[in-house]
Amino acid sequence: MNSGRLFRLVICFFVIVLLAAGAGCARKKAPAPEQKRTGQEEQNPGAAKEAGYVGSTKCRGCHENQYSGWEKSLHRLMVQDAAKGNVILGDFTKKGNPFEIAKQYKKEDIVYAIGSQWKQRYVVKNKDDFIILPAEWIVATKSWQPYHQEDWDQPHRHYEDLCIACHTTGYHAELGAKINEAGIGCEACHGPGRDHSGNPSSQNIVNPAKLSYKKQIEVCGQCHVRGQEIKGKREDALGYVPGGELTSFIKPLTPSEEELKKEKPAFFPDGASKKHHQQYNDYVQSRHYTREKASCSYCHESHDGKGTKGEIPLTKPVDQLCESCHRPGEVAANVKLRKPYLDNYLPKRAKSATEADIRSHTFKPGQPKTPVQKPPYTE
Ligand code: HEC
Ligand code: HEC
Ligand code: HEC
Ligand code: HEC
Ligand code: HEC
Ligand code: HEC
Repeated sequence: MNSGRLFRLVICFFVIVLLAAGAGCARKKAPAPEQKRTGQEEQNPGAAKEAGYVGSTKCRGCHENQYSGWEKSLHRLMVQDAAKGNVILGDFTKKGNPFEIAKQYKKEDIVYAIGSQWKQRYVVKNKDDFIILPAEWIVATKSWQPYHQEDWDQPHRHYEDLCIACHTTGYHAELGAKINEAGIGCEACHGPGRDHSGNPSSQNIVNPAKLSYKKQIEVCGQCHVRGQEIKGKREDALGYVPGGELTSFIKPLTPSEEELKKEKPAFFPDGASKKHHQQYNDYVQSRHYTREKASCSYCHESHDGKGTKGEIPLTKPVDQLCESCHRPGEVAANVKLRKPYLDNYLPKRAKSATEADIRSHTFKPGQPKTPVQKPPYTE
C-alpha cells in the first residue's frame, strides 16, 4: 500500500468515527418539535436534518448518474406516498381486503404503500401513530392474505417500531423524527450527507467500496438481515450508520440448534433461510464470506433499476458473474460449478409472499432445486 492510500484510509477511518460520534451526540439532544409526517423527502423533518441527513434530492445536482439510476430502482420505490397515482396495487373490492376488519378506515386514509414486487402492505395514520392494515396484497396471486388480524391495532404493532428502520432513510427515534426519507435513499448506504453536500470531499462521505470487506457487507446487511436489537426489543439495527459495526446494533439470527427447534424456525436444517430479508444471515455462512470474496455490491448494482418494476440488476449477467472467478467445468477456487448457476446455487427457498419466492444466499452446493408449491400457501 502506498503512503497516499494509507493516508486516505486513515482519514477515512477518522471521518467515520466522527460521523458515528456526531450521530451519537445528535441523538442525545432534546426531541424536535412535532413534525408533519405525511410524505417523501420534500417534507424532511428538521429533526432528521440535525442528525445530518439531507435526503437524496440533495445529491442529485452533483451525482446525476447515480441518482437517475437509483431513482428507477426498487430501493427508492420501497415506501411510496399513496396519494401519488398508480401506487396502490391491491384490489379493495376483492374478498379478504383489510377494510373488512379495519372498518374505521377507508382507502383514502392510506398514507403509505410498502412494497410492490412480492407483496404490498398499507399504512394508515391515527393521530401520531402509523398503523399497518390487517391484510396484505399478494402480487403473484392477485389476492389478499390476512396480516396480524388479531393484534393489528395494538400499540406493539406500530410501523415506527417495527418497519421504519429498514424501509426508510435517516430515522432517529430519539429525535422525534418519525420519517426522514421514505424508501432506501442514498444516505442509507452512504451515511448522513449534510457536510459532504456543503463541502464535497471524499473524506466526509462513506463510499462502501473503500470499507473493509465485512463492513461493505454490513452496509447491505443493516436491512437484509433478521435478528434482535442489542440494546432493546426492536428487530432492526436502528442507530447503525454505514462504516459502523453492525453487530453492535443487532444480533443476527443463526441456524443454531435452538433456532431450528422453534415452531417456525427462520432457517432450514442446512442453514439456508426459510424467511425473507435474511440475505445477510445466509451470506455470512458462505465460503465467499469466509474467504472475503465477492461483496454484495460485487454482484448487485445499487445505482440502477430496470424494467417497469425497477428491479435492481446484477452487475453482469449471472453466468459471467460467477465465471469471473469460477471457470466453467473446471475445479477453480476448490469448486466445480454446474449450470444453471442460479437454480443450482441460489435456489428459491425462502418465503416473502408465496412459498419459495426468495433465493438462498448461502452458496452451498447440493441445495434442493427451486420447489414449486401450489396455493393455498402455508406459513
Ligand atoms: C455540491 C456537489 C455535491 C453534492 C451535493 C454531493 N456530492 Fe458527493 N461528491 C462530490 C464531489 C466533487 C466528489 C468527489 C470528491 C473527491 O474525490 O474529493 C464526491 C464524491 C462522492 C462519493 C465518493 C467518495 C469516495 O470516497 O470515493 C460518494 C459516495 C458521494 N459523493 C455521495 C454523495 C451523496 C450520498 C450525496 C448526497 C447526500 C452527495 N454525494 C452530494 C460532490 C457532491
Ligand atoms: C443500496 C445502497 C446504495 C444506495 C441506495 C446508493 N448507493 Fe452509491 N454506492 C453504493 C456502493 C455499494 C458503492 C460502491 C460501489 C462499488 O463497489 O464499486 C457506491 C458508490 C457510490 C459513488 C462512488 C462512485 C461510484 O459510482 O462507484 C457515488 C458518487 C455514489 N455511490 C452516489 C450515490 C448517490 C448520489 C445515491 C443516491 C441517488 C446513491 N449512491 C445510492 C451503494 C449505494
Ligand atoms: C431488519 C429489516 C426489516 C424489517 C424490520 C422489516 N423489513 Fe420489510 N423487508 C426488508 C427487506 C430487506 C426486504 C426485501 C428483501 C427480502 O424480502 O428478502 C423486505 C421486504 C418487504 C416487503 C415486500 C416488498 C416487495 O416489493 O414485495 C414488504 C411489503 C415489507 N418488507 C414490509 C415490511 C413491514 C410492514 C415491516 C414491519 C412490520 C417490515 N417490512 C419490517 C427488511 C425489513
Ligand atoms: C435501508 C435498508 C436497505 C439497505 C441499506 C439496502 N437494502 Fe436492498 N432492499 C431493501 C428493501 C426494503 C428491499 C425491497 C424493495 C422492494 O421489493 O420494493 C430491498 C431490495 C433489494 C434487492 C432486490 C431487488 C430486486 O430487484 O428484486 C436487492 C438485489 C438489494 N436490495 C440489494 C442491496 C444491496 C447490494 C445493498 C447494499 C449495497 C442493499 N440492498 C442495501 C432494503 C435495503
Ligand atoms: C470474486 C470471486 C467469486 C465470484 C464472483 C463468485 N465466486 Fe463462488 N467462490 C469463490 C471462492 C474464492 C470460493 C471459496 C473456495 C474455497 O473455499 O476454497 C467460492 C466458493 C463457491 C461455492 C462453494 C461453496 C461451498 O460452501 O462449498 C459455490 C457453490 C460458489 N462459489 C458458487 C458461486 C456462484 C453461483 C457464483 C455466481 C453467482 C459465484 N460463486 C461467484 C469466488 C467467487
Ligand atoms: C456472487 C454474487 C452475489 C452476491 C455476492 C450476492 N448476491 Fe444477491 N443475488 C445474486 C443473484 C444471482 C440473484 C438472483 C438474481 C435474479 O433472480 O436475476 C440475487 C438476488 C438477490 C435479491 C433478490 C431477492 C431474490 O431472492 O430474488 C436480494 C434482495 C439480494 N440478492 C441481496 C443480496 C445481499 C444483501 C447480498 C450481500 C449480503 C447479496 N445479495 C450477495 C447474486 C449475489
